[in-house]
Amino acid sequence: MRELGIGVVGAGWMGKVHAMSYRTARQAFGPEPAVPVLRTIVDVERAVAERAAAECGFARAATDWRAVVDDPAIDIVDICTPNDMHFDVAMAAIAAGKHVYCEKPLANTAELARQMTEAAARAGTITLVGFNYIQNPVHGLAKAAIGRGEIGDPRYMRIFFNCDFMCDPNLQHTWRNDIARAGSGMVGDVGAHCLAYFYFLLDREIEEVFCTLATVIPDHPAPLVAGGFRLGAEGDPSRRVPNTTDDIATVLFRFAGGGMGHMECSRVHTGVRFDIGYDLIGTHGSLRYSYERINDIQLYREEGPVEQRGFKRIQMGPSDPRYAAMQPVAGLGLGYNDYKAIEAREMLVAVAEGRKAWPDFAFGYRIQNVVEACQRSDRERAWVRVPPLGRGA
Ligand SMILES: NC(=O)c1ccc[n+]([C@@H]2O[C@H](COP(=O)([O-])OP(=O)(O)OC[C@H]3O[C@@H](n4cnc5c(N)ncnc54)[C@H](O)[C@@H]3O)[C@@H](O)[C@H]2O)c1
Repeated sequence: MRELGIGVVGAGWMGKVHAMSYRTARQAFGPEPAVPVLRTIVDVERAVAERAAAECGFARAATDWRAVVDDPAIDIVDICTPNDMHFDVAMAAIAAGKHVYCEKPLANTAELARQMTEAAARAGTITLVGFNYIQNPVHGLAKAAIGRGEIGDPRYMRIFFNCDFMCDPNLQHTWRNDIARAGSGMVGDVGAHCLAYFYFLLDREIEEVFCTLATVIPDHPAPLVAGGFRLGAEGDPSRRVPNTTDDIATVLFRFAGGGMGHMECSRVHTGVRFDIGYDLIGTHGSLRYSYERINDIQLYREEGPVEQRGFKRIQMGPSDPRYAAMQPVAGLGLGYNDYKAIEAREMLVAVAEGRKAWPDFAFGYRIQNVVEACQRSDRERAWVRVPPLGRGA
């Protein structure tokens, strides 16, 4: 039985989720072909790192990410830091011969994402980016239906990621409100997940975009609690810090083959606690998905008597081995942490077998290229063509 040493960098929200995911993956899928060993968790905040090590069972806590990059016992460097750190940590890890599992967005610019992709390809590094929503096996059913031609030629895709977790102007300012750290607002933070749906389901090029961004809450109270996302933590009411990112993004796009689409992203969508999904309209049918029915897709086919037509609800079940590893009964359903465990499992198996993981840095770069075109479109208030990808993709 092979062991793979894991070093997680960033012990906030995602750091904890990733740590849990390795454990779930180990238990759900078994010890073959490799067992994850939680060696080191790093956070700039010592107390956060130590607490996470104790909670999640890491052998060691550290405050400098070089501790995992330099450790020969670590095979996978798992990056869960704010976005601006992804590039430095990933490039150092690649240079040190590690494999890299990085949270989305891959980097703060398309150029940095290109460099990361090319460096990994040159070094033979196995990479994976945390686009966990497409790890939900239910989207495999949607992709298979498209592949069988059940909706005809895809003409229109509405993709959305709306939630209300930053509606409250008294929530403390975090790195997500700082453009220098976050790199983008809604298009990079949650639009990247929408674009992952698009590329997973259609695998066509997005040719041009028209994007508008809006900042609804201009400032937030200065943070009182350091380290970790602290969802719901209120800040220091005596001092407010500008929100230099946006809270809402609306994007129109055209894709290869004459299709068009609309992407809407918001973190201030009052009353919508959390919903991500799509409507995909083809010439002979349609597919719908909403996170509010997390384990179902809806399929409409233009067949049979007109008066009997309607959407058919298809529920996920153990026909997919990833689902079967977690639950034996259709309709019981998987949740967010399960998809994260499926993602961690994908990384472990890819490294153990020496094959590519999915979705890799090239996929993350392709998405970052569109994110950047959206940002430019908003600045220039114009349609922007998505530039061709560099050699890395
Ligand atoms: N895939 C998803 O569904 C999903 C969800 C949330 C966040 N994310 C991504 O995960 C990443 C982390 O987001 P989060 O919500 O966990 O953030 P977070 O703020 O909860 O945690 C980040 C942690 O990193 C630490 N940190 C900051 N700089 C560091 C450094 N130089 N070295 C070590 N630690 C450092 C912070 O102290 C903090 O504890 C981001 O890239 C974000 O976009 C992905």
